[in-house]
Formats: sequence, C-alpha cells, structure tokens
Amino acid sequence: MSRLDAASLLFHSPLTKPHPRRRFLCLLSTTLAALGAFLSLLLFFALHPAPSPPPDYGALFLSLGSNDTAAAHLRALTLHPHVAGTKANSLAARYVLHALSSLSFPAHVTPYSVLLSYPVHRSLSLSLPAPGRDTTHFSLQQETYPNDPYAAAAAEAIPTFYAYAKSGSVSAEAVYANYGREDDFAYLASRGVAVAGKVALARYGRIHCEDIAHNARAAGAAAAVVYTDPLEYGGAPGEGWFPDAQWLPPSGVQVGSLFRGVGDPTTPMWASSEGSERLSVEEAMSTDDMPLLPALPVSARDAIEVHRALGGAVAPAGWQGRQDGPVYHLGPGPAVLNLTYIGNDTMATIENVFAIIEGAEEPDRYVILGNHRDAWTFGAVDPSSGTASMIETGSTEWVEENLEMLSLRAVAYLNIDVSVVGPLFYPSATPQLDDLLQETIKSVQDPDNSSQTVYDSWIKSNISPMKILSHSLHDEYVLLGTLTLVGPGYPVYHSLYDDYVWMEKFGDPGFHRHVAAASIWGMMAFRLATEEILPFNYVSYAGELEAYTKAVENEVKRTAVSCSPLRKSIRALRRAAIKANSERKELQRQLSSQPMDNHSLKIRELNDRLIQAERAFTNREGVFKQEWFKHLVYGPSEQNDWQTASYPGIANAISSAKRSNTSESWKFVQHEIYRVARAVAQASAVLGGSLT
Ligand SMILES: *[C@@H]1O[C@H](CO)[C@@H](O)[C@H](O)[C@H]1NC(C)=O
Ligand SMILES: *[C@@H]1O[C@H](CO)[C@@H](O)[C@H](O)[C@H]1NC(C)=O
Ligand SMILES: *[C@@H]1O[C@H](CO)[C@@H](O)[C@H](O)[C@H]1NC(C)=O
Ligand SMILES: *[C@@H]1O[C@H](CO)[C@@H](O)[C@H](O)[C@H]1NC(C)=O
Repeated sequence: MSRLDAASLLFHSPLTKPHPRRRFLCLLSTTLAALGAFLSLLLFFALHPAPSPPPDYGALFLSLGSNDTAAAHLRALTLHPHVAGTKANSLAARYVLHALSSLSFPAHVTPYSVLLSYPVHRSLSLSLPAPGRDTTHFSLQQETYPNDPYAAAAAEAIPTFYAYAKSGSVSAEAVYANYGREDDFAYLASRGVAVAGKVALARYGRIHCEDIAHNARAAGAAAAVVYTDPLEYGGAPGEGWFPDAQWLPPSGVQVGSLFRGVGDPTTPMWASSEGSERLSVEEAMSTDDMPLLPALPVSARDAIEVHRALGGAVAPAGWQGRQDGPVYHLGPGPAVLNLTYIGNDTMATIENVFAIIEGAEEPDRYVILGNHRDAWTFGAVDPSSGTASMIETGSTEWVEENLEMLSLRAVAYLNIDVSVVGPLFYPSATPQLDDLLQETIKSVQDPDNSSQTVYDSWIKSNISPMKILSHSLHDEYVLLGTLTLVGPGYPVYHSLYDDYVWMEKFGDPGFHRHVAAASIWGMMAFRLATEEILPFNYVSYAGELEAYTKAVENEVKRTAVSCSPLRKSIRALRRAAIKANSERKELQRQLSSQPMDNHSLKIRELNDRLIQAERAFTNREGVFKQEWFKHLVYGPSEQNDWQTASYPGIANAISSAKRSNTSESWKFVQHEIYRVARAVAQASAVLGGSLT
C-alpha cells in the first residue's frame, strides 16, 4: 500500500466519517518500548476501514498490538548499549526508520550536531591516614553474572561516569551528605561539619544527580561521589538482586548527566541547526548550569566501604542505611578519597527519527508523539532519563528548531518515556487531559487481570494521583497539553542491568503491559487527532490548582503571605472552563443535527482557545531561580523531591525564605504568588474568549 493510499483510505473510509482524521500526527524520535506503540498506531491507521458499527478502539488496538512483536523489537533494539552519538545508536535509528518506512508512512532522520560527553579516564581510591592501612582502589566496574547473555555486549557499555563532569583530580577527606539536598548541606553546616574542599558522598533517592552535584559545589565541596544505597535500590535484606530478584546488584551504578539545562549546551534555548550560533565547548562547559566539579557515580558496594571508613558524629536516623549495613557517620575523614575524572566533551552527531501521518481537515494542527531512542546502557526500560539529560538533546533540539510553529500549531504532546516497569501504570498528564486519559484507560483491559480495566486497577492501586510529575516534564513541551506514561523509579535505572532479561523477568513478563501501554497511548493520540472539538477539560485544571494552592497556604500559614490573589484567579479559570465545556456541548448538539461546514469557524475558535489557554501559564522570564523553565504551574522546583511539581517558582521562593527568614524574602514569596495568579488570570481570559 502506498502512503497516499493509506491516507486516502483513512479519509474516505465510511468508518472515519463521523470522526475524520483532522490533524497531523507527528512521531518523534521513536524507540524501544514505544516502537511497538508507534507501529500499532500506524497499523491502526493503515487498517482503519474496519467494518461498522463504530469500533471499540480499545479492543481494536489490543488486537493489533502484539506482545510478540513488542518483545521482538525490544530485543533487537537492546542487543547493544546505544549511547547518544555512537555508531550503535545510529544503527538503532536505522532500525526504527526501517520499521516505520515498511508501513509506508513517510519517515526521515534529522541529524543534529551537539555537545556530548564521554569518559576517558576514571579512578577512585580510598585510604586512611593511619600507618599500615592499605589503599583500596575501586574497580568502578559493573559485574556481569554467570550465563549473562549480554556479558559480551556489556563490554561495549560506556564506563560508569557523569556526563559533563569537570575533568580533574581531587584527593581529600570524605564527608557524608545524605541525599545531597540543600537542607542536608545546611544540616552539616549546623553541626559544624566542614564540607569546603572535601569530597561529598551523597546517595540517590530524593533529587536528581545534577542537583546533588550543584548543591555539593554550592557547599564548597571539591568533588562529589553519588551512590545507590541498598535502602532504596536493594530491596529488603536477604532478597537478593538481579538476575535472581529485581534489585540492583551491589556493583551496579546509576549513571547520568550533570547538566542542569535542556538540550545542547552549546545552543542554550535555541536549535543546534547547521550554521547556528554556538557557544564554544569551553564556554558551554563553564556556565553555571554545568557541575564545574569532578564527580563520579559509584556502586553501593564501594560506597559502603567508604562509610565504614568515615568517622565523626553518627549521622541522624533519616541519614542511615539498611539495618544490615554499617552505621553511617558524617565525617569529615579520616577516610580520604582520591578521585580522578578525565572526560571528553566533544561535538557529536545525534539523530532523530521523525514520521508524520498527514491530517486532512486541520492539517495545520499537530499532535506530537515523542520518545527517545538512545540509552545509557541497553535501555530496555529507560531509553532516557528525566529532565536535563545528555540523551534528551535530540528532541529538544527539534522542538527548539520548530518552536514558534509548534507553539502556534501543536495541540498536544504525548510522551512515552519509561513505559513499562511493572504492573502499575503511572500516567501523568496536564489536567486538561485528565478526562480523556480516564476515558481511555476505562476501555483498555488490565494486562495483568482480564476481568478488569486499567482504570479499575489504577483506582484500586490508590497511589498515583493523575497529575504531572516533575521528572516527567520537559519544559518545551509544557507549552502543550502533555501526557507522559512514566514508570515509578525502578532499581536498575541507568545501570548495566537495564536489559532485556530484566524486562522479561521483572518488568513485563509476557509483554502484555507493553501492548496495553501502546493502546492507551495510541488511543489518546487517535482521539486528539480526530475529534472535531479537542477533548480538553479545564475544570480539572482549576481543581488541581486549588489543591496546590492549599499546599502553599500550608507552607506560609504563620507568615503575612496571602494566597487570595491566586484563589481569585483560579475561580475565574473555573468559570471560564465551565463556559468552554458548555460551548462544546452546544456545538456537539448542533453538529449532530446539521452538517459541520456551518460550524467550522466556531469549532476552530473554540479549539484555538482550548489550545492557547495552556500557553498562558508560561512566562517569558521563567521560573524564579530556574529561568530556563517557563511554565509557572508545572516544573521541577530547585529542591525537587520528585513529587512536588507544582508552582516551582513559589516553591523556590519559599525554600529561600525559610532559610533566610527575612521580611524581604517572604515578600518575595508574595511576589511569586502574584506572578502565578497573573498567569492563571491570563489563561482564564484566553479560555473564556472575551476581552475585559
Ligand atoms: C590520586 O590518584 C592518582 C591516580 O591514581 C595518583 O596519580 C595520585 O598520586 C593520587 N594522589 C594522591 C594525593 O594520593
Ligand atoms: C574526544 O572525542 C573526539 C571526537 O570523538 C576524538 O576525536 C578525540 O580523540 C577524543 N579525545 C580524547 C582525549 O579521547
Ligand atoms: C481481577 O479483577 C477482578 C475484578 O475487578 C477482581 O475481583 C480480582 O480480585 C482481580 N484479581 C486479582 C488477582 O487482582
Ligand atoms: C505473548 O503472549 C502469549 C499469550 O499470553 C504468551 O504465550 C507468549 O509467551 C507471549 N510472548 C512473549 C514474547 O512473552
């Protein structure tokens, strides 16, 4: 079938008449787990002229999506580690391109030249000043296990490192900094524990590694070492580890990027297209978004050895590890860590695979489906990481290159980063998509229990309020209604053990969860691309904002700060949302009795308001202390604990004010509240559609 045939088939099919495919679907940088989803979506479009009566899209998707196909693609794409900028990743791009082209949809590869970071030399040793004590040289190797089918390929994996860490050598006493949050360093200062000039030892589990490195530098540390504590990554004592259990092996290391910005560091906020303005590598590496200190991620096994050698006061209860480990002390010393890291920060080519399904009636409106293809290692679960990672660069550059077009024309962004890591789904969406998401998961069968839907199991799990999580956000996309299917943190995240075997044994035995995720994602894309009036409900948005405001009120209750300006603008948003909903109902009523042409301008006008209201939450000056984030409602705050993703500027102002506790600092909190209130008021004006 040629591509034109496919398109006309779709458009003229009797089935699609009531809901013609109106808008473009753009598939960006497809990969791994998501590839199955893309393919079933494409197949769905290709085969769409199914017989009437109107199909149960959920059943149809499920019948098209094959667990065997999903497994086969995953296996093919995870045979080798495929870090951004490498040959292996380029081959993965060809694979995806071929898979898309074979379905006769136009697909192409867009290359970008960006600053990437690779390790050249790493070493870490531990010594005690006492005479007769040997120095321990850590191997910094993640071990394979007997009969590991990927043992040979593991040799191709990039050595454990932090992208963009500063090259250098530091030999200094170690000091324990818990989760590396600002508060943790403040605690050390309050106990008189010196951090300046020392090597800060911190653990993962609360904030991103780039923020740990930033806080360590701000506290004066000369270097940072970050590890995966068995408390968070090792399960209960005695449970064992991969391949016997899902937990991270003692030698496992979680790698990552320490760059705090987004996209290519040489083109901050603009696209890395050919001939574009660029910072030099040296300039890019010396901005404040860079870690500016040597750092290494290490294994639990190595870190426990450092813990055993630390003296000083016993760390408080919330800083301790698992009961079967040593008691943690704060230091500093007497343990001395000698850390050397030499990196190669170099321009390299990355590639996006891009495909489109053309729209007919509103071809200037796009629904974007995105995912990342490159991975730190094999990337069976996570082809990417949360915010600000080296490997997200590709789609960021594409968004930057097309920013104005997208902000004019894009309808929604559906992201599927870490789709399947276990039995539960963690969908998160900007609130105007909540209804659509709920309706969708009501029609998809729970892959783990055929007598209920995904919705039933989600309601029962009672764990995941359907709101956006900070680490799933990618700022540029927040211009749009955004949906992300993310998994919870999982133990082998960004380690060598994130491979097909882990997925087959623990993540998705049988691969039915992959198919269910593909169905949810594909059905949402389908409805966004086909419905006359966009299925956005902003009443849900007002409800979420009220809940966040309550949380702020709780934080400021013993101060002069007032949330009433914010409350007032949220009430206006709710009124505008109710008005938009009743306009939708009225239009739908008219549509069912008369041909559409008479209403097309009205539909377009309402759709424009529904799309543009989201843009109004953004502000050119950006979030206080994190100016590169533009959305004033959603985004990770500076001290993000991965759960609070709302009002980042207010959160940053409150955490500053709590520390300094001056009247100016609290006045600044008030200022931030007013800023958000103004943005919400703008959104309600856009949604309401009338001038004051
Ligand atoms: C630290 O380690 C490096 C590399 O192993 C070595 O050359 C250097 O002498 C060591 N520095 C100290 C102070 O021990
Ligand atoms: C850094 O990477 C560039 C480009 O890949 C390569 O030509 C160069 O040899 C590398 N330098 C080192 C020190 O590895
Ligand atoms: C499967 O779903 C049904 C219907 O909701 C429920 O009664 C049953 O307990 C579930 N089974 C399991 C194993 O969770
Ligand atoms: C796909 O599902 C069938 C039926 O549940 C199962 O027998 C088969 O092993 C699954 N395929 C894979 C690759 O897990």
